[in-house]
Amino acid sequence: MQGDLAVGIHDLSVSTTQFALTHETLAAHNGADIGKYHVGIGQRSMSVPAADEDIVTMAAAAAAPVVGRAGADRIRTIVFATESSIDQAKAAGIYVHSLLGMPSATRVVELKQACYAGTAALHFAAALVRQDPSQQVLVIASDVSRYEPDDPGEATQGAAAVAMLVGADPALVRLEEPTGLFTADIMDFWRPNYRTTALVDGQESIAAYLQAAEGAWKDYTERGGRSLGEFRAFCYHQPFTRMAHKAHRHLLQSQGHAADEDTVDRAVGGTTAYNADIGNSYTASMYIGLAALLDSAEDLAGRPVGFLSYGSGSVAEFFAGTIVPGYRSELRSGLHRDVISRRRIVDFTRYRELHAFSFPADGGDHPAPRETTGPYRLAGVFGHKRIYEPR
Ligand code: HMG
Repeated sequence: MQGDLAVGIHDLSVSTTQFALTHETLAAHNGADIGKYHVGIGQRSMSVPAADEDIVTMAAAAAAPVVGRAGADRIRTIVFATESSIDQAKAAGIYVHSLLGMPSATRVVELKQACYAGTAALHFAAALVRQDPSQQVLVIASDVSRYEPDDPGEATQGAAAVAMLVGADPALVRLEEPTGLFTADIMDFWRPNYRTTALVDGQESIAAYLQAAEGAWKDYTERGGRSLGEFRAFCYHQPFTRMAHKAHRHLLQSQGHAADEDTVDRAVGGTTAYNADIGNSYTASMYIGLAALLDSAEDLAGRPVGFLSYGSGSVAEFFAGTIVPGYRSELRSGLHRDVISRRRIVDFTRYRELHAFSFPADGGDHPAPRETTGPYRLAGVFGHKRIYEPR
């Protein structure tokens, strides 16, 4: 147990891309019934990065308001979780550290395990804070989800970042122990180093997710966790928002509970509003679900929320957090709605151009087209170096 020290999420901020593609446009291209997207997978649109946006620009945009509010003095660690990394050696968080002008006395590291890495980052951050409660940790999860054109996964693409400030006496979510863990060596979704798009066995990945959710829950209960009925809501990893419904139904049924649509919807319905418009943001997805839940009209003060994080390959973790009384005054609901609503909707041709865009790998100087209206941009790739700048 963590004793009397409350540790958890003190601030949470979301950013996404300049552009978006609607599922109506995708359906018009591939002939799918729009019901398959709107109802079957629960997606309305997907965020699409501009040529001068990537995981760093989204991360810096998410983190800037957090660092702006708290100041950088107590942040001694930045943990950057991603599975769409831009360099095999250098941590993407160092670019964010530089863009935000943070002190040199900072530790910066990148973590990977598919969509689960954001949760690993959160728990590693909490452990650092328990070691020294005067410190805060900036956790960033940022990803671009990209499948081959016309792959069934294309409908579940997306891109976004979250920044979370983890510290003692948190203003939003107090993390609880125990947590439940599950790992299995499985090839449901992966991306070899030589590919820019992911490989996936769609149905296998759904089955692997459900099995992992059940396994993580089993470990959680064996370690003395809460019972299912105690939670007001559940944040699941959302590769597409219907997956949260599928997972919760599976968890309820596996524990012998009724799983009618109303019960499932009451548990997960408040978490899906943002992800239905953004799409899969891998490491950020579950925490964007949390942002939507906190930004919703319901007062959740003092209520326990369950979290099920899944990353293909696969690792899952179930854990609990209690929403801190007074949390509403710390939210960034207006910013979150704005970053989603201000995206420019592109037509199919433009979307496919952006999907195919990449910088030449010849070591020359390649400025990026000026497209984003976000606060930070990728200026280009010059002599194999990615150069970022405030816009
Ligand atoms: P698909 O073959 O295009 O779609 O693949 P489908 O035929 O399975 O249909 C999807 C749903 O729409 C079904 O509902 C249909 O019945 C329904 P279900 O039976 O599953 O409840 N449907 C309709 N509903 C209403 N009106 C209609 C209609 N038509 C059909 N007219 C799939 C879908 C998600 C598999 C595909 O998009 C894919 O491969 N996505 C990528 C993989 C993925 O997202 N996997 C999720 C679990 S793994 C995970 O979460 C990890 C991940 O985030 C990566 C990481 O960890 O890093 C992916």
